[in-house]
Amino acid sequence: MELVTSPWDLAKEDGRYSRAINEACVTDTSFVMDVALRGLGGDVFRGLTSLVDVGGGYGAGAVAIAKAFPDVKCTVMDLQQVVSEAPDDGVVQFVAGDMFESVPPAQAALLKNVLDCWSDEDCVKILRQCKKAIPTRDDGGKVIIINVVVGYGPKNIAVKETQVLYDMFMMSVDGTEREEHEWRKIFLEAGFGDYRIMPILGYQSIIEVFP
Ligand SMILES: C[S@@+](CC[C@H](N)C(=O)[O-])C[C@H]1O[C@@H](n2cnc3c(N)ncnc32)[C@H](O)[C@@H]1O
Repeated sequence: MELVTSPWDLAKEDGRYSRAINEACVTDTSFVMDVALRGLGGDVFRGLTSLVDVGGGYGAGAVAIAKAFPDVKCTVMDLQQVVSEAPDDGVVQFVAGDMFESVPPAQAALLKNVLDCWSDEDCVKILRQCKKAIPTRDDGGKVIIINVVVGYGPKNIAVKETQVLYDMFMMSVDGTEREEHEWRKIFLEAGFGDYRIMPILGYQSIIEVFP
């Protein structure tokens, strides 16, 4: 089943809906990044010189990274209607754009809770733009994805149920949660060579994808 209007098209037309989505994302992201940046999750961002948070909404993810790692120059890229309403306190730079057309250059591109909103075909398009924006692996280039990897994380029923509930919710907005083999297929098709998955928070994972 295909949606008549995608959530992002609806957000363009309805400012209240747009704000509701973006404020919900800030709440989720502030909590998730707090956990993600502790311990091993933090190592993923340590040593980076710059990062672009693609589809970064109001910038909660990038702000958390910039505060934890002040040497990382952080840019948030999102649609014009989102960037124009984002609270800009000068910690990160906001850029309006379309991730299907181009992504601002940075050493790493972050995609948090973005790719599960899109089909495999669209994910490949987005990842190809990210690949153009980052340097080679030898120069520290990578894409960092924060999303569910179905089947990863602690082997208990609560984690499994949470991942399945996320999948059901994403289906309602034409998205999907993916197992490792589904992610791998997308990465290879987008031209990436290797990846590493690290479960965080039980039900979510950080995936580092290398050119
Ligand atoms: C589920 S939200 C995630 C926001 C943020 N990454 C987070 O985790 O809090 C998806 C974001 O993708 C953005 N988005 C949708 N289509 C886009 C496009 N074509 N180019 C750039 N951003 C887009 C939306 O505006 C929204 O902010």
